[in-house]
Amino acid sequence: MTVKIAPSILSADFARLGEEVRAIDQAGGDWIHIDVMDGHFVPNLTIGPAVIKALRPHTARPFDVHLMIDPAQPFIEDYAKAGADYITVHAEADLHIDRSLQLIRSLGKKAGLSLNPATPESVLEYVLDRLDLILVMSVNPGFGGQSFIESQVEKVARIRQMIGDRPIELEVDGGVTAEIAPRLIKAGATAFVAGSAVFKTPDYAGNIAALRGL
Ligand code: DX5
Ligand code: ZN
Repeated sequence: MTVKIAPSILSADFARLGEEVRAIDQAGGDWIHIDVMDGHFVPNLTIGPAVIKALRPHTARPFDVHLMIDPAQPFIEDYAKAGADYITVHAEADLHIDRSLQLIRSLGKKAGLSLNPATPESVLEYVLDRLDLILVMSVNPGFGGQSFIESQVEKVARIRQMIGDRPIELEVDGGVTAEIAPRLIKAGATAFVAGSAVFKTPDYAGNIAALRGL
C-alpha cells in the first residue's frame, strides 16, 4: 500500500489558490490538506468555509480539512456544506469529542481527531470506533515550515497498535520530509501532510514522489 500524500495549501501562493490546488492535483497529491486557524486556538489566522467552497470546483480530490479552531463544534456543519470530505477537530479544543465525531459522520463526512505533540494517545481509546482518521501533530500547530518533533514517531507506533484492524487512516502533520518519511511508514503511518516539502520547489510531482519514497 502506498502512503497517501496530502499537500498543505498553507504553503501555497494564497493569491493563486485555485491554480495551486489544480497543480497539486495534477502532480499526484492524494488529498488537499486545508489548515483552518482561528488566531485563538493557534497563533495564526487562515481561511474559512467561503474559501473552501470557492476551491471545491477546482479538483475532485478529497478535501482534508484540519480545524485548528476553538470551539469547532458550532462550525462543523459549515465546513461540511463547503465541501470538506474529512473534517478533523482537535482533542484539546473540544470537551465533547464524542459528540463532535458523531456530528461529522451524521453529516456524511469522515471524522478525524488531531492530537498536539504533548497530548497523549490515551484520549483516543473510547472513540476509536467513531474515527476515520487520526492526525498526529509532529509540530506545534500554527505555522508551516517548522522542524519535526522526534517524539511523535513513538506516538505513531503506539497509535498503530491501538488501531488494530480498524479502517482508520493514521496521518502525520508537520515537518515531514522525504528523509523522515520512511521511519513514519515503518511506525504505521498511512498518510502524510506536507507543506514546505511539496511547495519548496516548482517540481510538485517530484517532491510528492520523493515523500512516497519513489
Ligand atoms: C501546521 C499545519 C500543517 C502545516 C504543515 O499547523 O497543521 O498542516 O501546514 O506544513 P509543513 O509540512 O511545512 O510543516
Ligand atoms: Zn494541518
